[in-house]
Formats: sequence, C-alpha cells, structure tokens
Amino acid sequence: MADLDLAGKRVLIRQDLNVPLKKGVVADGTRIHASLPTIQAALDAGARVMIMSHLGRPTEGEYVHQYSMAPVANFLSALLNQPVRLEQNWLEPEFIPVEPGEVVLCENVRFNLGEKANDEALSRRMAKMCDVFVMDAFGTAHRAQASTHGVAKYAPIACAGPLLAGELEALGKALDNPARPLVAIVGGSKVSTKLTVLETLSKKVDQLIVGGGIANTFIAADGGNVGNSLYEADLIGTCKKLQADAQSRGGDIPVPTDVVCGKQFAENAEAETKAVADVQDDDMIFDIGPKTAEKLAEILKNAGTIVWNGPVGVFEFNQFGEGTKEIAMAIAESDAFSIAGGGDTLAAVAKYKICDDVSYISTGGGAFLEFLEGKKLPAVEILEQRAASS
Ligand code: 3PG
Repeated sequence: MADLDLAGKRVLIRQDLNVPLKKGVVADGTRIHASLPTIQAALDAGARVMIMSHLGRPTEGEYVHQYSMAPVANFLSALLNQPVRLEQNWLEPEFIPVEPGEVVLCENVRFNLGEKANDEALSRRMAKMCDVFVMDAFGTAHRAQASTHGVAKYAPIACAGPLLAGELEALGKALDNPARPLVAIVGGSKVSTKLTVLETLSKKVDQLIVGGGIANTFIAADGGNVGNSLYEADLIGTCKKLQADAQSRGGDIPVPTDVVCGKQFAENAEAETKAVADVQDDDMIFDIGPKTAEKLAEILKNAGTIVWNGPVGVFEFNQFGEGTKEIAMAIAESDAFSIAGGGDTLAAVAKYKICDDVSYISTGGGAFLEFLEGKKLPAVEILEQRAASS
C-alpha cells in the first residue's frame, strides 16, 4: 500500500474488526487498535477511506441489529478523533460519497447475500466501489469470501495493507527462517482440533511442547492414567506416532510428569498437585504441575524462536493457571523471537501482562492456525496471483 499514490483515490480497506461486544459496546478493541496504522496511513495519503469488515456470524441477506458495526464505528471514531460514518446501503448502484480525509465504515459485509459463497456479482459490485482495494484483514485471510477474495480479484488495483504484510512477515520469520532452536507450544482442549497443526509443526520445529487436554491424550498414549480428564481415546494412536516420529528425529514431545487436578470443572474446585502416577479415576487434570512447568520453562528460556498457540491449563481459574503463567513468564524472559496467536492465548498474554514482552502478537485466530498448518491463505494467494500477473 505504501508504494501507491492514494491521494484523492477511493480506497476500500478490508479489516478484521470482528471484535467481542458486551451490552452493545466493544469489549476488547485489540483488533481495532491493530488496524489503526493502516487507516491513518491512508488518511495521511489523502485517500477517500472506506472500510469493510464482518462482525460475528449473522444469517446472510438481512440486517440484524445485534451484528451491526455501529459500536465499532463509535470505537474507531474515538481512536481516530474524527467522525466515522456508518453506511448502511453501501452497495447501492450509486457510489457512496466519500471526501478525501473522510472515513466511512460499511455495515457488516455478512449482511450481504453471497458474501460467504464468494459470489462473483457481489465481489464485482464491491470492486467497482473503489480505485484501490487494500486487504488488511489477516484474521479473515483464511476465508475465500467476497470481501476478502472476490473483491481482490476484480478491483482495479489490489494490494496488501501494512497489518497483513506485518503478520505474514512475522509468521514467516518464525516458521520459514527461524533462529534455532525453534520451539512451538500447542495447548488447548483437543488433539482433534489441532491435529494438522501438530503434524505440520512437529516436522518443522526443534521442540514441540503440548499442553491442556492435548497433553492428557499424550499422557494416555504414554500409558498414564488420566482419570476423568478430557482426552481423546481414539487419538492415542496418533499421539504415539507423533511421539515416535519425534524420537526418531532424536528428540521427544515432553509428557507431563506432574499435574494439577480437581474433582469437578468449577471456579471454586479444589486443586491438588500430584505425580501423574498418582492420578485417581475421579481426578480431572486441569494444569501441568510445577516440575513439568519448570522443565518446559527451561526449554523456552534457551529457544531462538517461540511459537505459542494455546494455554497449557484451565488458566481462567487461578488455581489451575500456574502452568500457563510459568510458560508465559518464560516466554517473556526469553531472548527468543516470540509470536503468540489465538483467542485463548491472547487472553493469557493479557492476564499475565506479557504483551510488551512477546515479539509479535497475531490478530488471527483461525487464520493463525491455518498458517501454522502450512495452508495457503486464499486472500493472500489472490494478491500474489495478481502481483505475479501484473
Ligand atoms: C476470527 O475471529 O477468527 C475471524 O474474524 C474470522 O471469523 P469467522 O471464523 O467467523 O470467519
């Protein structure tokens, strides 16, 4: 985007302003803050700025008040210190008027029929609205939809925005050309939702660390008792194979040796730290234990690059958060280039106040995971195709 002359041009920017709302107000504006430099740069260049984004997953084809971008327009307006006009009927046959220096926020793209199906006619209507289309929504780059992919195909000029470019650069630095050793921490509740990530990363990294319910399945694969914990019996064989593959490469995937258990999933559940060998049939494992956390922290402190996706315990409950806290602190103290992504991970980064100590915090959830899986992001691919053919 920086290479283009945007003065007086109609610039349509696709952002990911899909933020959580509480009682009609933005509850976490991280993604809006992250999109600000791009919007500001377009304004400074004298562009007529039109922004589009989705919010939530409304049924297509109708306006649903709950999913209106109005709270986002207010939040953005306060950050920019200038009015942000929310435009309801931005796909009218007549172009919506936008003056240079003005910011218009288009109402939720997912109110339009054909958005998710990447409908060609809808994509062409969006493309016609602008002189330049800027794809800046890393968080939605894994979706081939009209406002991310189709419009990029038909717009007179299409380019990546600074946020998208920055995300791709940081992820590329972490995964394609990393300072070694490269360590990845994959936590979360289920192996099944992160299987491709585990398989892809296990071949790339020097050390894979697993946590949360994922680690429970690895404990079971190692012959340990997981009691009443969340785990996936049908994926024990898969975990055994991942472990055997890691061992054949001369390393291993560390399996927790001690854990923190409770008898029920509740905020006031009593926490008991014990060796894995002492886990009872009515125990539920909610965190890694201190000995395991110390061992993992040691690995992290010596890393050259760290990729973090997923907490290693139920950190929302303080008594089961020590493992995730120790991991967070080890990342903060490490000299490694570190990158964190995913909703729960970012909540942990915020809870343990390490935002300023992580080298790069991704705005992507699903997109971050798909990048880790080694998948091509369709909204990036179309920009590359256009650049290659121009
Ligand atoms: C996200 O929050 O991960 C992105 O905004 C994508 O949203 P979606 O999963 O509804 O497409």
